[in-house]
Amino acid sequence: MNKGLAAVILAAGKGTRMKSTLPKVMHPLCGEPMLYYPLEAARQADFRQLKVVVGHGADVVRERFSSPDLTWVVQSDQLGTGHALMCAADSLRGYSGPLLLLCGDVPLLKTETIEHLRDFHAREKAVVTVLTAQMPNPHGYGRIIRDGEQVMGIVEERDATDLQREITEINTGTYMFDAAFVLSALRGLNKNNAQGEYYLTDVVAAAVAAGKTTRALCVADPTEVMGVNDRCQLAEAEVLMRWKINSDLMYAGISMTDPTTVYIDNGVELGVDTQLHPNVHLRGKTSIGKNCIIETGVVVVDSQIGDGVHLKAGSAIEESQVGPACKIGPMAHLRPGTVLSGNNKIGNYVETKKAVFGEGSQASHLTYVGDAEVGRNVNFGCGAITCNYDGVNKYKTIIEDDVFIGSDTQFVAPVTIGRNSLIAAGSTITKDVPANALALSRSNQRVIDGWRLRKQKKSED
Ligand code: UD1
Ligand code: CA
Repeated sequence: MNKGLAAVILAAGKGTRMKSTLPKVMHPLCGEPMLYYPLEAARQADFRQLKVVVGHGADVVRERFSSPDLTWVVQSDQLGTGHALMCAADSLRGYSGPLLLLCGDVPLLKTETIEHLRDFHAREKAVVTVLTAQMPNPHGYGRIIRDGEQVMGIVEERDATDLQREITEINTGTYMFDAAFVLSALRGLNKNNAQGEYYLTDVVAAAVAAGKTTRALCVADPTEVMGVNDRCQLAEAEVLMRWKINSDLMYAGISMTDPTTVYIDNGVELGVDTQLHPNVHLRGKTSIGKNCIIETGVVVVDSQIGDGVHLKAGSAIEESQVGPACKIGPMAHLRPGTVLSGNNKIGNYVETKKAVFGEGSQASHLTYVGDAEVGRNVNFGCGAITCNYDGVNKYKTIIEDDVFIGSDTQFVAPVTIGRNSLIAAGSTITKDVPANALALSRSNQRVIDGWRLRKQKKSED
């Protein structure tokens, strides 16, 4: 068995109230499945062995979260929270020490709170320390029965007397246990309760009966321990987490005109003095440099944006790299594999895909550049396109440095344009062009004098 403190995370429940085919803990919150957060908080609080109890949708959960510090425990039938921890007993064999228990559906719990609970539990020499909260509306939660510092028991809503239901200190479902004590106490649990389940909460009364110390630590902010049981609570948790992400960023030197409409995934990095206008979405593995301006309606997914970049309204950027001082949009679409080296201008209604642009190259209007290697200081005229697909295969267009491309040019790939050449407007380029050349491919214009007048006269006859 590997070393370090152990934690058990309960995540086997079906999440019936989510009305979903996805297991509850896989529902996303600020870009990560809900379970990500308790696992990370436990790791940050120095718990090195994580035992995750899974049941419903176990395969999906395992696929997303497998890691060397994590052991999977399968609970095939969900017979209650006590049963869930019982299932983890084998994986804890030989472990004696403090044991943390978290629920996979309590995603806002802070690392500091876990550390505080861990230290308080040790100081008090308790066998059970339960994390509690004062809830103005405690409906649905287990209530804490105290005798001063000592917790005498936890009573579930459905098993509580009217008097007990008036208690507003509730069980958050987070505990520190003495591992040896709790594993032996679990063997004494029964299902004599309203839900016919093995309640983990019953180990508190068992500890009291055995003359042990039990304690409760009450969190200052009850929103931190909210459980997510349905999609409304998921949305509530998202609002709280989003505010935390945005306020941390604002304190770190990023401006937001209206932070309530800025949607930034967990882990996205931003540099100082970057300004975010309303309705900006920054998702996945994304980083944004310093001194950038990100206008309304911009969506950036899994992309790296350099310093001093201006992303104008309505632009979408996916799996791309944008070098410093680029100007993108409005309404530009950078698709996967776009690499802009720096000082590039990608203007309105321009789409790029698997396209590498050297420094200073521009496509200002209505252009499509796909499967292309573009040198430095290349200028695409309005409406130029790479014809990269023949319906079966994709082909590459190579455009060397300093090429000037007239408007409405089509490059029928594969094709290479040598450096410093000029493509005349309206050309369809099907063959390679050498350096320093002029290429044009358009039929000569015919003009027929007086044609309109003759037509009009004929229709009048
Ligand atoms: C539980 C507590 C209650 C507390 C509340 C806090 C018990 C008996 N009650 O009630 O005192 O106020 O949490 O949110 O413990 N799970 C399993 N296997 C099971 C049952 C549950 O893994 O067989 C997991 C669920 O996936 C969930 C967690 O345990 O992550 C809590 O289960 P849930 O059914 O939501 O407990 P509550 O009834 O809310
Ligand atoms: Ca339950």
